[in-house]
Amino acid sequence: MDILLFGKPGAGKGTQAPMLAESLGAATLATGDVLRGAVREGTPLGKKAKEYMDRGDLVPDDVILGIVGEALASKPYANGAILDGVVRTVPQAEGLEKVLKSVGRKLDALVYFDIDNEHIVERLSGRTVCEKCQTPYMGRNAGEKCEKCGGTLVRRKDDEPDAVRNRLKVYERQTAPVFDWYRRNGARIVTVDAVGTVSEVTQRARKALGR
Ligand code: AP5
Repeated sequence: MDILLFGKPGAGKGTQAPMLAESLGAATLATGDVLRGAVREGTPLGKKAKEYMDRGDLVPDDVILGIVGEALASKPYANGAILDGVVRTVPQAEGLEKVLKSVGRKLDALVYFDIDNEHIVERLSGRTVCEKCQTPYMGRNAGEKCEKCGGTLVRRKDDEPDAVRNRLKVYERQTAPVFDWYRRNGARIVTVDAVGTVSEVTQRARKALGR
């Protein structure tokens, strides 16, 4: 099963992805996590992506489609993928369709996490993430240890107020039209109210997907 998680920055895509992956038996692919890993390791991909990410701009489509094409052709994704933030422009939506076709699949559903900007700002200003496994936390300070892997919690540079404002603008300008593209192309779209506890949101998403 291939499911695209879609929504504004901070909507909770990264929090919900592992829960949905477990119940759907598919592996998660988060382009943001792949890119942050590359930045940390200082690879050519990371060097190229860093300045876009720090500003809260989108990384070029060809870079994203390269990551997606390589990942989805690999063994861990043979049973499908929970695609977290993988599509943020119309060319990426078109590219994903081609990649999935090349492995004999098509997108099963788009899950849209619906949330207002007030909650987004509150969530992103309080977020820390594990620098090792990328698990996001709320109400935990930078420097504390990750419950899952013992890595150190850090603040993301793109969670600074200026970058958050830019990410929300970029979402409206470049990413929101993707939703209409999927609607026009007859995709199954599932809208989930993303305000509530983490487990409430998981339950809503599972129910909406019939799992
Ligand atoms: P990425 O890391 O994907 O950032 P994003 O889309 O802006 O999403 P976030 O990770 O900020 O939010 P989320 O929806 O995953 O929310 P989370 O679960 O963490 O991408 C980063 C950058 O990489 C992009 O800006 C871009 O530069 C580049 N990039 C990545 N993909 C790209 C693509 N396809 N094309 C081009 N560029 C790309 O939750 C947020 C906080 O809220 C956390 O603290 C969490 O603990 C908390 N929280 C979650 N759920 C709840 C809840 N129900 N109640 C209370 N708190 C909650």
